[in-house]
Amino acid sequence: MEEDLDEIEIMIRARYPIIYIISWEEKRVEADLLKIANRTEKKIFSWTVTQGLVSMTGNKSTFLTNDSTRDLVLALENIQRAVDPAIYILKDTHHYMNDATVIRKLRDLSISLRSSFKTIIIISPILKIPSELEKDVNVIDYKLPSINDLGILMDKLILSIQNSKKNVEINLDNAGKEKLLQAAMGLTLSEAESVLSKAIVSKKRLSVEDIGIIHSEKKQIIKKSGLLEFYPTHETMSNVGGLTNLKVWLKKRSIAFTKKARNYGLPQPKGIMLLGVSGSGKSLVAKAVASLWQLPLLRLDIGSLFSGLVGSSEENMRKTIKTAESVAPCLLWLDEIDKGFSGSGSSNVSDGGTTARVLSSFLTWMQEKDSPVFIIATANDISHLPPELLRKGRFDEIFFLDLPELKERAEIFAIHLIKRGRDPKNFDLQNMAITTEGFSGSEIEELIISSMYDSFEEDRELNNDDIKNAISHSVPLSHTMKEVIDELRLWTKNRARPASG
Ligand SMILES: Nc1ncnc2c1ncn2[C@@H]1O[C@H](COP(=O)(O)OP(=O)(O)OP(=O)(O)O)[C@@H](O)[C@H]1O
Ligand SMILES: [Mg+2]
Repeated sequence: MEEDLDEIEIMIRARYPIIYIISWEEKRVEADLLKIANRTEKKIFSWTVTQGLVSMTGNKSTFLTNDSTRDLVLALENIQRAVDPAIYILKDTHHYMNDATVIRKLRDLSISLRSSFKTIIIISPILKIPSELEKDVNVIDYKLPSINDLGILMDKLILSIQNSKKNVEINLDNAGKEKLLQAAMGLTLSEAESVLSKAIVSKKRLSVEDIGIIHSEKKQIIKKSGLLEFYPTHETMSNVGGLTNLKVWLKKRSIAFTKKARNYGLPQPKGIMLLGVSGSGKSLVAKAVASLWQLPLLRLDIGSLFSGLVGSSEENMRKTIKTAESVAPCLLWLDEIDKGFSGSGSSNVSDGGTTARVLSSFLTWMQEKDSPVFIIATANDISHLPPELLRKGRFDEIFFLDLPELKERAEIFAIHLIKRGRDPKNFDLQNMAITTEGFSGSEIEELIISSMYDSFEEDRELNNDDIKNAISHSVPLSHTMKEVIDELRLWTKNRARPASG
């Protein structure tokens, strides 16, 4: 955010006429802008529809409402006439961005302000710029508070508790403090303040255990965004059969988001792409990573980005990224990405390039992101996959999940028997594995379920023969889809790493 501040100051000094700051945190942005106004020796005003154009400096009486400028157009005319160097903050103007007079006025101002020492700064939580103004407005996505900002806030809170001599127990050493602050990363200052106050008021204490309250606050944020789903999961890596390469890779990165790893000089991992045949455990692995790394799993329904129910697709993508970053460290799961972005090819013009634009903004973010959001993308149809998605530097690794080998099949049988309360020792796993060449993990699970129905119907315990029987009556999808799978294998040969050891 210091960078944001510097960037804004440079823009103001370079006489950019209109700067659009995207942020929920009016108070914090205002406080920062006041600093800039001081440094650049400019006056500073703010406009709201309720107060009109009022000075933010000087004595309290100048904070009075200025009724004659409550109309935005009149306020803009005032700005145009003013002669002193000044910063003008406009709030909630996204509501006026389809008003022809306002748009025209802003366009006029964008020309005249260039040769003045006046700057208009729009603060809004939503990016809404009419296309006529796009070239005249510079956008800054204001960063959320840094861990230092949050630390200052927490120290202030603790100090005020101690001064008030209230009966609140503060049980925090430095490590505990860092843990709480880390968890609070991504909250706005006022969100962090209310969540910490909530812990203090309701529990009469502040300790590491209050991390739970912070997490539930973050769940709320996700819910409100409407695009991401907080995906609770109980799957663990021990429920995943085979795929040892992939598991080893993931296990090694369990501590990837710690300060220790940063200090050691390791970069933050970006994400992985899991390519593979249907039922090979791609979605399963995504869920298991959440347990392995103990991070929240956020599932993005790519379809809803484009549905138009919530907002424009581009704005939705931006919001999704913001939300994920505000919950970070976390996993962002893009399941079946091939289906979501299939319309992005240059030959596909049916959506006016929207899909391609959204994909490209996602890719840019992936390339540049320094926030601890780990992407897990899955796909099984490579022909629908935009090639730019797989270029070097996007994902840390692309894994190919093939049909399970003999040993892996035996493991998968065992896992699903255990899951359903059976002891694998009572079954001939070796033989079952031999006779199920070409079956996927999910088909093996299906075999067990259907044989359990058979034995259940006859009101007896499940035995080897039930499973044998089920195997002999099933044809795996891979038999009918042989060409598709062969093609996938060939395609991934030099492009992806085998997930199995
Ligand atoms: N390697 C495996 N070990 C244990 N169970 C597995 C494995 N692979 C698949 N399964 C079982 O099959 C179910 C379905 O698999 P999953 O949904 O992960 O497949 P997928 O690769 O995502 O398929 P799709 O491409 O159709 O989405 C899993 O929930 C799990 O019960
Ligand atoms: Mg899946």
